[in-house]
Amino acid sequence: MSPIIFSSESAAQTNGHAHSNSIHTIKEHASLDGFGTRAIHVGSEPNPETGAVIPAISLSTTYKQHGVGNHKGFEYSRSGNPNRNALEATLAAIESGGAYGIAFASGSSTTATVLQSLGPDAHIVSVNDVYGGTFRYMTRVAAENQGLEATFVDLENASDDEILASFRPNTKLIWIETPTNPTLRLVDIARIVSLARSAPSNPLVLVDNTFLSPFYQSPLVLGADIVMHSLTKYVNGHSDVVMGALILPAHHAALAEKLRFLQNAIGAVPSAYDCWLAQRGAKTLHLRMKAHGANALAVARALQSSSHVEEVIYPGLASHPRNDLAYRSLSSHARAYVDRYVKERGDEAGGFPYGGMISFRIRGGATEANKFLTSARLFTLAESLGGVESLAELPAQMTHGSIPPAERALLGIGDNLIRLSVGVEEEEDLVADIEQALAAAALPSKDL
Ligand SMILES: Cc1ncc(COP(=O)(O)O)c(C=O)c1O
Repeated sequence: MSPIIFSSESAAQTNGHAHSNSIHTIKEHASLDGFGTRAIHVGSEPNPETGAVIPAISLSTTYKQHGVGNHKGFEYSRSGNPNRNALEATLAAIESGGAYGIAFASGSSTTATVLQSLGPDAHIVSVNDVYGGTFRYMTRVAAENQGLEATFVDLENASDDEILASFRPNTKLIWIETPTNPTLRLVDIARIVSLARSAPSNPLVLVDNTFLSPFYQSPLVLGADIVMHSLTKYVNGHSDVVMGALILPAHHAALAEKLRFLQNAIGAVPSAYDCWLAQRGAKTLHLRMKAHGANALAVARALQSSSHVEEVIYPGLASHPRNDLAYRSLSSHARAYVDRYVKERGDEAGGFPYGGMISFRIRGGATEANKFLTSARLFTLAESLGGVESLAELPAQMTHGSIPPAERALLGIGDNLIRLSVGVEEEEDLVADIEQALAAAALPSKDL
C-alpha cells in the first residue's frame, strides 16, 4: 500500500475518473497549503469529464473490467469505492503527519479492527478514563475472543516508573485518549511515546483524537503511530453520519496494509453516501473548530463566574491546572489561531479556545443537574458530541451509566457532573441560555 498520492493515475481512484492535470502529493499539499485548504482540495479535485467541482456519489457496488483483472482501480465496493477513497485522502491530508487514511462504519468498528490486528493473547496499556464503548470492547469482547489483557493506567498522573512497570513482554499497544471523556484529563502524548520507545516490546502508540479533531491536536507529529477518530463527531460535524477512521504516517506502510486488509476482510465499511457526507463535513472542520473553541471558552467563563457552579473543567481556561500542557499539545495550525485570538484580546481572553467540550459540576446534586438540563433552551439534552448544535448530558446516567458506581466515583463522574458539547450558534445566545438554565436550576422546585 503506498501513501495516497494524487497523480493522473491515482486520481482515478479518488473520484473514479481519469484526471490529467492534478499532480499533488499529500506531502506537497502539506508543505504548500494550510489546514483549511487541504481539507477543501485534497480528495476533491474537479471532475475532468464533467467539470463537477464536487465528487459525484458513486453507488455502484461493482465495476466493469475490460479484461480479467484489468480495471480502473475498483472491483467491488467493499474493497474500495471512489467516495471512500476520496474521504480517506482528505483525512490523511488533514491529520498532520498522516499518509494513509482507512475508513470504517463506526468509531467502534475502527477500535475493533485495530484490536483484532494485535492477534491472540496480546497485552495493551490503556488510559483508565477511556471511552466506555472502547472499554467494553477491550474487556468484554477482545478479552473473551482473543485473550486480550488490558491494564488501565491513569496516564495523566502516573509517574514514568509506574507507566514503565505496566509494560509486559507482550505489550503491543498503548491506547491514549486525550482529553478524556467526560472529565477532560490531559495525557502528555510525547511523554508516553518516549516511554513506549524504551519498552522492549516496542508497543505501538494509538491516540483516539476524536475530542479535539485533527484541527486542535496532531498526535502523529508528536510521535504517535496511529490516530483514530469517531468521525461521527467533529469531522463530519452535523450529527448525521456514524463512521470512524484510522490515519497512519508514511513509515507505517506495512501496518497500513494489514489494517487495509482487515478493513476489507471484516467488512465494517462505510457507505459511499456517508463517505460523501463526511468529506463534505471535513471541508469546514477548521471553521467549525475555531467557532466551537471560541464559544466554549465564552461558556466556560460564564460558568466559572456563576455562584451556581462548583467546578468548571475546560483545559483552555487560564485557571485550569493543565492549561500549559493544553497549550503545548496544540497543533501548529491551532496554535496560530489561538495566538492570534489571545493577542487580539490580551488578558481579557481568560484562556484560549481548546475544542468544544466542557464538563462542570453544578452546585447541588442530581436534582439541580436535571433541572439545568431540562431548562436549557438551546443546549439539547442528548448524548453524542461534535455537531454544529449544542448538546448537554448527564454522564453518570447517560454516556457513562454502564460504569459501576464505585468506578464512576473514582473517576469523578458524580451526579452533578454535566457535559456540554458547545456548538457553533451565536456566542451570546449560548451564554444567555447557560445563565438562565443555571438560574432555573437554583430555584426551589415549586418556583419552576
Ligand atoms: C472518544 C470516542 N471514541 C470512540 C467512540 C465510538 O465511536 P462511534 O460512536 O462512532 O462508534 C466515541 C463515541 O462516542 C467516542 O466518544
